[in-house]
Amino acid sequence: MRVRRYCAHTSGSKVVVVTNHPMSQEHYIVRHTLLLADGTFVGTKTFTPADKPESTYDLPNGYKGKIYVSSFCNLHDFWLLETKP
Ligand SMILES: [Fe+2]
Repeated sequence: MRVRRYCAHTSGSKVVVVTNHPMSQEHYIVRHTLLLADGTFVGTKTFTPADKPESTYDLPNGYKGKIYVSSFCNLHDFWLLETKP
């Protein structure tokens, strides 16, 4: 699934988030965060400009509801993706 500049791939209970975005000192992805539909925090990853903007999360066993993934850019603010496992 690809929405705007980033995507989340789900495989069983794993969610892999990849942001298709430059990573330079001046302009980079600062953070990914993943939440369940009820707002339960699943995880977050903070990046430096030297990192690839990719992160992996484990969903609760059997979870089939919506998930929300945010990707935060230091220049362009906050992007939100809604998807399902
Ligand atoms: Fe950006």
